[in-house]
Amino acid sequence: MKNQSLGNQIIKLSYVDSTNNYTAKLVKETKISFGTVIMADFQTHGKGQRSSFWESDKGLNLLISIYFDSSFLNSENIFFLSKAIALAIRECLEKITGIKVSIKWPNDILINGSKIAGVLIENQWKNEKLSSSIIGIGLNVNQVIFSGQENVISLKNLTSKDYNLNSILKSLCSSLDTEFTRLRNFDFFEIDRQYHSFLFNYNKWSNYEKNKINFKGKLIKVDSFGKMVLQLDNGDKKSFEIKEVSLLK
Ligand code: BTN
Repeated sequence: MKNQSLGNQIIKLSYVDSTNNYTAKLVKETKISFGTVIMADFQTHGKGQRSSFWESDKGLNLLISIYFDSSFLNSENIFFLSKAIALAIRECLEKITGIKVSIKWPNDILINGSKIAGVLIENQWKNEKLSSSIIGIGLNVNQVIFSGQENVISLKNLTSKDYNLNSILKSLCSSLDTEFTRLRNFDFFEIDRQYHSFLFNYNKWSNYEKNKINFKGKLIKVDSFGKMVLQLDNGDKKSFEIKEVSLLK
């Protein structure tokens, strides 16, 4: 497998629609190699999960996409990529802040119960086989006001310090490299163990909502397909897809 040590190649843009879209364009034109990081100061159409918009003021936060060779994974273990990325961001932020960082299913990164980073992975398939992934990461760094968004936090909100985005990128790439090596070694057991150990609300009774119906559930597992397995109060276990259910406060 080609060396895809992250961040050897960084493409810096002052603005773009979305770093994920831009990366996809470069992939189509075969103008990019694995491990390349695309970074932007500003996105006009930053994409979040569930077709949402990713808000970020100009030059204040880390907005990156990574072109990753995920061809060694398949549809049965693809969610381990998501778990590995969440673990890397978590570890990087805990090193920087010294504050406890957790992972909210599927791969939101939380500090003090508020979201500090989000991940949007877009996979490319060839003849029904996974060929590559574009990993988009938005990390709130120096922005202090987030209009119209609740439960969002940045590094500066937490520590009152300003951070150098290039240094944060360097630390993040190093944590991602470690987790990607674990992934390429198929150390799924350890990835799973760590992911669950940092999982928000793990093994806790909480309130969930599906199709406007509220119910109690205990998160007992996130499986290899990324489904959340809840134990219900009648003792049944039920798996839920990413868009099917949401956690209530
Ligand atoms: C989420 O909603 O939690 C995912 C957010 C992902 C945002 C990042 S910012 C860089 C990259 N480019 C995009 O358009 N989205 C991702």
